[in-house]
Parts: sequence; structure tokens; C-alpha cells
Amino acid sequence: MKKALVPGTFDPITNGHLDIIGRASALVDEVILAVAASKKKQPLFTLEERVELAQEACAPFSNVNVLPFEGLLVDFAKECGTSIVIKGLRAITDFEYEFQMAALNDHLSKGFETIFIMSSPEYMFLSSSIVRELASLKTPADDFVPACVSQALRNKY
Ligand code: COA
Repeated sequence: MKKALVPGTFDPITNGHLDIIGRASALVDEVILAVAASKKKQPLFTLEERVELAQEACAPFSNVNVLPFEGLLVDFAKECGTSIVIKGLRAITDFEYEFQMAALNDHLSKGFETIFIMSSPEYMFLSSSIVRELASLKTPADDFVPACVSQALRNKY
């Protein structure tokens, strides 16, 4: 049974993430959506809120389970019984950082495999901070996020 992690801060989860998650879920038997505490990023949504929103947004995918984690990604992957991570790649600017992370994770845990899925063109520009910025400026972000996230953003601002 092939299991893979799709990690991120998901502050909040967007349609761009769901594009990658849906495509990842078609490639493996189980996807664990690993929601990082990412305290350094000082997320807008608490870890519990991010997990709840991701669970609601991922409900259509029967083989996706959402779990929170703190600490190293490679340690959490080991706990989950996998050494495969799937990440979305949006633009050339993502590549350098992702290349560094993939190499570091392979160094920390030999054989750790990072697989990249190219983001669909309509989501190439999307990020969670863009969505937060739109919402903070009272501009609906409904085109970019699932309905539960739209509502949560309205409640926050
Ligand atoms: N669609 C839309 N947005 C996307 C996207 C996609 N397909 N892919 C990435 N993004 C956005 C994210 O929402 C995030 O937006 P933001 O910075 O505006 O909030 C941004 O692109 C960066 O994404 P990512 O590189 O996935 O960062 P992240 O903060 O979401 O997650 C972790 C990074 C959690 C995977 C990484 O920090 C980690 O592994 N942490 C654990 C500690 C660890 O092991 N560190 C490495 C060794 S020191």
C-alpha cells in the first residue's frame, strides 16, 4: 500500500492546494495531509482551525487523512510509516527552495523521496498569503478557496 505525505502550513488551505491533493490522491492509496504547526510563520489560523478547514475541504477525497504535526517532517513521515512526500511546484521561484528542502530531507533520512506535481496554470500565482491579504482588504477570495475557508476568512476579518 503506497502512502504519501502532502505537507504544508495550509494557512488557509486553497484551491491550489486542493488541485495538488486531488492529483496526489489519484497516485497513491493514502494521502496524509500533514498540517505543520509552523510557529515561526505566526499563522492567522490556529493549528486546530487549519486542520478542521482542511478536513472539511478534503472530505470529497476518501483516501485523504488530515493530521497535525510539529518538528521535523522526516520524523513525522517515519511515524506515519512512509518516506514519500508529494509537493506542488508553482513557478521557477519555488524550485530553489524546494530543491534545498528535498536535498536536506534526503540527508536527514536516507531514501526519503520528494515527488513534485506541477501546479495547474490557473493556480500558479496563488498562495495562502495572497488569500489572507485579499480577505484582510475585505475583498472576497471565493474564487480561490473552498466555501468553508471563505466563511472562516469572513469570520476572522
Ligand atoms: N497552491 C497554492 N499555494 C501553494 C501551493 C499550491 N499548490 N503550494 C505552495 N503554496 C503556498 C503555501 O500556501 C505557502 O503560502 P504562504 O507562504 O503565502 O502562506 C507558500 O506557498 C509556501 O508553501 P510551502 O513551501 O509548502 O510552505 P509551507 O509553509 O506551506 O510548508 C513545510 C512548509 C511545513 C512543508 C516545511 O516548512 C516543513 O517541512 N516543516 C517542518 C520542519 C522541517 O522538517 N523543516 C525542514 C528541515 S529544517
